[in-house]
Amino acid sequence: MRRTIDWADGAVVIIDQTALPGEYRLLELRTVGELVDAVKRLAVRGAPALGAAGALGVALSAHLNGDVPKDAELLAHARPTAVNLAWGVERALGKLGQGKDAVLAEALALLDEDEQLNETASKHAAEIVLAECPRRPLNLLTHCNAGRLATVGWGSALGVVWHLHERGLVEEVLVDETRPLLQGARLTAWELAQANVPYRVQPDSAAAAAMARGMVDCVLVGADRIAANGDVANKIGTYGLAIAARHHRVPFIVVAPSSTVDGKLADGSGITIEERDAAELTEHTPEGAQVFNPAFDVTPFDLITAVVTEHGRFEP
Ligand code: MRU
Repeated sequence: MRRTIDWADGAVVIIDQTALPGEYRLLELRTVGELVDAVKRLAVRGAPALGAAGALGVALSAHLNGDVPKDAELLAHARPTAVNLAWGVERALGKLGQGKDAVLAEALALLDEDEQLNETASKHAAEIVLAECPRRPLNLLTHCNAGRLATVGWGSALGVVWHLHERGLVEEVLVDETRPLLQGARLTAWELAQANVPYRVQPDSAAAAAMARGMVDCVLVGADRIAANGDVANKIGTYGLAIAARHHRVPFIVVAPSSTVDGKLADGSGITIEERDAAELTEHTPEGAQVFNPAFDVTPFDLITAVVTEHGRFEP
């Protein structure tokens, strides 16, 4: 399977996530403006993939002999919540003094690492799932898309599913549809179908009821930013899931590469939460309806069974 985001012939090439699952198409982004727009439109999305976008965007700017510091600012601020975006920008920018080839080499190294680190993090998390959940085979629940499409390759929370499925241990994955942009229904379901993993899509509001019926052995989610104390920002609805999981004594596991850890933030209260356009919610409302449309929420660390990176269990 090809990478979600890559570099080819002087362009950043992405799988267009706005077109899936209906159409699988690639987009060649040849200017930094096109890449920034793709990030804002969620054509490329998911924290680790955004880290790659940031780094490749700096490489693209350097390749085009652009105003690299200015482009780096635009890229780093295209979306506010996933720390990986600014981290990827900074990492590539750090090589600018050595010339544009060095910037591109750094960005490509970041891409390679992203695949490896997610694979390793999800392997650690799979072991924790097996230790925490006695029942076999496993019934898992996930929210949003933390799969191949949210990373350069492999995936974080869905990466755990790939490891467990390889071992024949997955009975079913319940996929929260993930209102309002349906990353679960469109993207996670597509990935699971491609990999022949049994799944069912459910409305986000069914998750607590599924737990109450004993249909969930473990909840697996990714992260957009992890504060030093272990608080986790992730797709809106994650916090409610964690509360429901705690009530039903269902393990709740967060999986992310360490590029998602923001050690400068003491706790989750300092995380900027992206608020998205009202138009994402007003299709069925009366005209003029006001909306509250935060794209992310923060789950306190004490509701989380384990935050897992490539280094294993994250210790606050
Ligand atoms: O708005 P999105 O689709 O970029 O949000 C993505 C998520 O919330 C993911 O769960 C998170 O980035 C982790 S992806 C490995």
